[in-house]
Amino acid sequence: MQFNLIPLSSMNTTLYQFFTEDHQRIEKLLIKATENPEGIDMSYYHQFRTQLLRHIKMEEKILFPAAKKSNPDLMKVLLPQFRLEHGAITALMVPPPTMSLINVIWYLLEKHDLAEEKPGGLYEVCERLTKDHTQALLIQLCTTKEVPVHPPNPAPIAMESARRAMKRAGYDYDAIIQQIEN
Ligand SMILES: [Fe+2]
Ligand SMILES: [Fe+2]
Repeated sequence: MQFNLIPLSSMNTTLYQFFTEDHQRIEKLLIKATENPEGIDMSYYHQFRTQLLRHIKMEEKILFPAAKKSNPDLMKVLLPQFRLEHGAITALMVPPPTMSLINVIWYLLEKHDLAEEKPGGLYEVCERLTKDHTQALLIQLCTTKEVPVHPPNPAPIAMESARRAMKRAGYDYDAIIQQIEN
């Protein structure tokens, strides 16, 4: 099912606002998925996953290439860490969610989103580099389709892959859980 949740009013905005509002919209889905202490709401969690993966797709396939075209040398320096974190976030979307997994997702998302949103952060840089074609980019962004997802994979290899992807991005999955839960 396609959720076309990005309103056309998003067209009268900046890339910074567009992406920042998308972060907030996606965060709300994760809050909704976990607001009942009895258990995770898998319908909201599914929306969270698909919307977050679409957000990453918009950055990787539209925003980053456009910024790279304008200043390849700068983006070559800036992008690798964001790409590694996208890999880690994507891997964390695969196992069935537990509260521990969701705590790690929150931890990583907060750091990642802040690095994109902060003054002088990635979004400001990308906005500056692409300022001559903001409208064309917004049209592409608003019409980006969801990424098809498989149901959560309970096989141990899914968790192992997530741990490895976190390591590559400079994070220790188990240390984060210890830090949050103790
Ligand atoms: Fe990102
Ligand atoms: Fe983002």
